[in-house]
Amino acid sequence: MEIIRSTVEMANWVDRLLVGGRTIGLVPTMGYFHAGHLSLMRLAAQEADQVVVSLFVNPIQFGPQEDLGRYPHDFERDARLAAEESVAVLFAPTVAEMYPAGFQSRLKIGALAEPLCGRQRPGHFEGVATVVAKLFNLVRPSVAVFGEKDFQQLAIIRQIVRDLNWRVRIVGHPIVREADGLAMSSRNVYLSPEERESALCLHEALELARKRVRDGCSAVRQLKDEIEQSIAGHGGVDVEYINFVDQYNLTDKSSVDRETVLAMAIRVGRTRLIDNGRLFEGA
Ligand code: PAJ
Repeated sequence: MEIIRSTVEMANWVDRLLVGGRTIGLVPTMGYFHAGHLSLMRLAAQEADQVVVSLFVNPIQFGPQEDLGRYPHDFERDARLAAEESVAVLFAPTVAEMYPAGFQSRLKIGALAEPLCGRQRPGHFEGVATVVAKLFNLVRPSVAVFGEKDFQQLAIIRQIVRDLNWRVRIVGHPIVREADGLAMSSRNVYLSPEERESALCLHEALELARKRVRDGCSAVRQLKDEIEQSIAGHGGVDVEYINFVDQYNLTDKSSVDRETVLAMAIRVGRTRLIDNGRLFEGA
């Protein structure tokens, strides 16, 4: 596996590969790999000849009060894990490489960036979209893999690809969970044992909603009440949002159908966690 730190070197590597007629699968990440990231790399390897993983903690997608300064990192471990997944290139540029002095452009997103995480994190998705655009231009992948864990992010990337005619296929990967249901996240390391226990309320809420839908309840107001009560039973959890939304346009639903996704964000102590899922079996 090659480790590339400069944008010019990355673009040159891609030039050489594409001349040979081979395809690239890109997995954009911010590092501190867990089994979720590794599954995305494996899926990319099935979808393209060579896999490029980017590892870049993107400062422009963090708000001033967020965890940019303490985002977890362990480059040696990440490089070892990526190499074991037969990744061809780990692209780990510096901030100065990606945002040299004078950098000032942003991709502007429409209505998809407004609800859910967009409400709590102004400018976040513009920052994500901008770095993803830069990565796509540098790496020129035929396919890029993103996790459904960041469901709004995935919806926004798909929308931009359609809107701007980007020549890349976007593939979503289901959420990878710990044995007890907690969605894997680099941020889970922030959690104390008690906080980790409380964080399970997200998966429990999803399971509860699925069970109630199986039992025939589709009224969102009722389901939301029950979920709020269930989450209130866990200590130290602040709900940021609990929304039942259409999986494509992210607008609120009043009644659950096959397109409905339950999307949630909470704070446990200082840690912000998200989770989501469809509510119908096999949907
Ligand atoms: P990061 O949080 O490192 O996530 C990288 C990719 O891994 C994203 O597509 C995310 O959805 C996916 N992922 C994270 N946890 C997952 C899980 N438990 N199961 C499945 N997939 C999971 O998302 C970002 O970085 C950044 O916003 C980025 C797209 C790299 C732009 O900076």
